[in-house]
Amino acid sequence: MYRDFDHEAVITRSDRLSGMTAVVAVHSTALGPAAGGCRRWVYPDRGAALEDALKLSRGMTLKNALAGVPFGGGKSVILSDGQAPTERQLAVFAEWLNELDGQYVTAEDVGMGLAQIRTLARYTSHVSGLGREDAGLDIGGDPSPKTAYGVFLGLERACQIRLGTSDLRGVRVAVMGLGAVGMALCAHLHNTGALLTVTDLDQKRVAMAIENFGATGVAPDELLLRPHDVFAPCALGGVIDHETAKTIPVRVIAGAANNQLVDDVCADLLNERNVLYAPDFVVNAGGVISVSAEILMQQGRYEASVAPDVWVQTRIDGISERLTKIVQEAHKRGVSTARVAEEQALRIVTGNCQQAA
Ligand code: NAI
Repeated sequence: MYRDFDHEAVITRSDRLSGMTAVVAVHSTALGPAAGGCRRWVYPDRGAALEDALKLSRGMTLKNALAGVPFGGGKSVILSDGQAPTERQLAVFAEWLNELDGQYVTAEDVGMGLAQIRTLARYTSHVSGLGREDAGLDIGGDPSPKTAYGVFLGLERACQIRLGTSDLRGVRVAVMGLGAVGMALCAHLHNTGALLTVTDLDQKRVAMAIENFGATGVAPDELLLRPHDVFAPCALGGVIDHETAKTIPVRVIAGAANNQLVDDVCADLLNERNVLYAPDFVVNAGGVISVSAEILMQQGRYEASVAPDVWVQTRIDGISERLTKIVQEAHKRGVSTARVAEEQALRIVTGNCQQAA
């Protein structure tokens, strides 16, 4: 991390009766209430869950700042026992969100789909990602399709910069993780003629990508060893460690997963090898942009002069240009894209703090 400030609030709670344990991390509310999804995952222990919540919530501060939405960064993680959550457990979690009194608004993330989010909404108003179909607007709801589209735009722009063409016909893309975002990204890539190699722990998802997109399926470890033009990590974070950064045979990395790099050294190692890394929090912001419009409408705070779906589309389309500026500055200064993106985001956040002081 290049320059940082502490989390504003970190809450770890357990409820023995329902069996609910969760961490809620509010990194910053400098730009507005903290917004970020709720992840439900089987963690080895509480420490791992806490670490994930801290990293993910910081990432949301950076993502929201660069995306230009009036929200700070927060994230919650629920420690799963591998079973579906009960209504009682979700009600307890919702009550903890109520205690934060709007300082943090949650939405979908890995392990928490629309069904769980709808259950939470019965017990708290500090939840979004439910959609505005009632208002006939294509905003909010499941953020994954918007995230996938934003990642596609970022990947396309990264190819233009590093491969010298935004025509993806014949470009070899390796996609890791074929969940809600990864599969939708494959559809965009397939439609533009990219050649896909895919992997997922779930073989049914791999079979779907083979059938629908003519993809080649490989084992997760093999994916990182095979030469491709682009690697699109769309599973979980931490997929690029030092060894992978030194060896991965690709020219571009652009994907949806949060916290793809284990640390900043990975960014420098990739930079030294001229591998263009599109910072995750820059290109995967499509979903939170869409959910932001939904929250603003929900809270009666939507004041832009354009329609909300136009507001969302403009910001998602802006991902290409934001990435270009980051790459240009990184090139000029001889530093990594990750460093430039973090610095730009933190400048927006601290600038706002100074204005408020
Ligand atoms: P998901 O849960 O729908 O899909 C994840 C997929 O990755 C699953 O199919 C899973 O089997 C697979 N997977 C997990 N570990 C793997 C491994 N080691 N190797 C291969 N496959 C593996 O999640 P979703 O919503 O598609 O999100 C994907 C990533 O993008 C996550 O890191 C998430 O935090 C991030 N993200 C998602 C957003 C969204 O709108 N859904 C927004 C921004 C980031």
